[in-house]
Amino acid sequence: MVICAACKKAEAEIRLDYAKRSLCRDCFTLFFERKVRNAVLKYHMFSVKDKVAVAVSGGKDSGALLAVLKRLFPRVEMVAVHLNLGIEGYSDGCEEIAKKIAKAYDIELIVCNLRKAYGFSISDFRKTRFSRKICASCGVVKRYLLNKTALEVDATKLATGHNLDDFVGVLFNHYVHGDVEQLKRLLPVNVSHNPKMVTRIKPLCEMTEKETRYYADCMGLPYKSHACPFVHQRRLEKRQRLLDKLSEVMPNFRHVFFKSHVKRLQPALQVEEEAVSVRECTRCGMPTSGEVCSFCKIVSTLTKRKRLEKF
Ligand code: AMP
Ligand code: FES
Ligand code: ZN
Repeated sequence: MVICAACKKAEAEIRLDYAKRSLCRDCFTLFFERKVRNAVLKYHMFSVKDKVAVAVSGGKDSGALLAVLKRLFPRVEMVAVHLNLGIEGYSDGCEEIAKKIAKAYDIELIVCNLRKAYGFSISDFRKTRFSRKICASCGVVKRYLLNKTALEVDATKLATGHNLDDFVGVLFNHYVHGDVEQLKRLLPVNVSHNPKMVTRIKPLCEMTEKETRYYADCMGLPYKSHACPFVHQRRLEKRQRLLDKLSEVMPNFRHVFFKSHVKRLQPALQVEEEAVSVRECTRCGMPTSGEVCSFCKIVSTLTKRKRLEKF
């Protein structure tokens, strides 16, 4: 039996290789919550003056996020936001889970149903030229609608459940492709100076996937057991397995990579950054770098397709 490294009494239930310690359930909960609190304070994510919209997808990360934020900051005004993407055999289950968690933590839940509000669903992309890139189009839709819904409820911050593994996976990808523009934007906090864009925060950015899952289990949270049917699971998993290999040799690899990016490289990149003039989409009025925003472009492709189908 392995004894917990913190209380030295109970049996350890989780091994954290990067920290070279094993912890029992209670000590892990304290450890996890302390780390999330530190991240929120260190990166100045929010204060009691904010209204935080928490994006809850039905997955373990965003469920854990809602639970930990409510437990740590009960005085901060929070609202949960869920997007029902209309994916058959998947999205309705996700919405049910989001409802259960919001109810358990006594937080108002705002649901935006893509089909009801906009007349299309993510599955409709199957028949378009976006069919091979459904996840990318879905990403555009999610970013746009999470921001819009957060604005509609007067939220000043939008929190997502991205964890350390997600963050470093994306970071690694941008480095491999030398995508400096994307690297500039990859931060625990994306401060917005635009009144139509809510500042985005990632309070779990320093917590590993394993820690987040275990925390969700400790809190007894329900979460979806299978991934979305469209996700390019193989590519994402391959990247994570590669990072796992590196972590076998250097258990704190993800933490070191994250820190060196946020602390050292990011400040250097920001200095070089030129002010990007943000325009307003000529169709919906939301911020965009071009004439029409990506969301409106996607919607118009789908609408054209539907019109053609009627003939
Ligand atoms: P993903 O892009 O699926 O990896 O999700 C990253 C984060 O975005 C999640 O942890 C949630 O905070 C948020 N998110 C993703 N899908 C949804 C959804 N359908 N509704 C609300 N939030 C979502
Ligand atoms: Fe967006 Fe699967 S959740 S493509
Ligand atoms: Zn638009």
